[in-house]
Amino acid sequence: MDYLTVALAKGRLGEQSAELFNQIDIGSCLDMKSRKLVFTDEVNRIKFMLLKNSDVVTYVENGVADIGIVGKDMLMESKAKVFQLYNLSFGYCKLCIAGKKGADVYKNNAILRVATKFDRSAKDYFEAKGQKIEIIKLNGSVELAPVLGLSDVIVDLVETGNTLKANGLEVLEDMYEINPLIIANRIGYKFKMKQIDDIIKNIERLELNTIA
Ligand code: PRP
Repeated sequence: MDYLTVALAKGRLGEQSAELFNQIDIGSCLDMKSRKLVFTDEVNRIKFMLLKNSDVVTYVENGVADIGIVGKDMLMESKAKVFQLYNLSFGYCKLCIAGKKGADVYKNNAILRVATKFDRSAKDYFEAKGQKIEIIKLNGSVELAPVLGLSDVIVDLVETGNTLKANGLEVLEDMYEINPLIIANRIGYKFKMKQIDDIIKNIERLELNTIA
């Protein structure tokens, strides 16, 4: 049997994903604290690769990874052609417009300056609302932008709301619910359907038991 290749994100989501696999007796080889980027589970014939969150979709779309676990935010940003196989029940958050308390999101014909890592999602959202924007693309610490006057608002993920609060910002408008999901390469899935479907069935069973 060929190895199944699985792309996981480093950081919070990756740790939750590794925990999930461990609970269905997969990936005991995973050590999320080490600097290693590839782990092999010889028993289950699975190779795991640890990637930057935003690269998971790329590896799956190109078939280097058969499946991956990624936030819906990344999928929306990339518009990649992959199968969306299963919505996971942990790690829910929201993509929101946030800014200083009481800041305006809609400015008639004036241009709204939006700082974000999610430029495509922001562009599509405001276009649909008819608000002209200027995107200020950032790679992190986005919350600083309105505080220091670089932007009027931000578009960012909000989970607990602690980061916004700590920086004197608030949610001005909810955009989308974001959850992690299992995605698959469209060709890889056809060849490894049985192995992939078995993993998903085990995850589903585990999640049902946890909820019950
Ligand atoms: C995300 C997001 C916010 C924070 C929100 O960043 O960009 O900064 O989490 O979480 P909270 O509502 O629970 O405070 P992440 O930790 O993924 O790191 P990054 O900014 O490096 O992408």
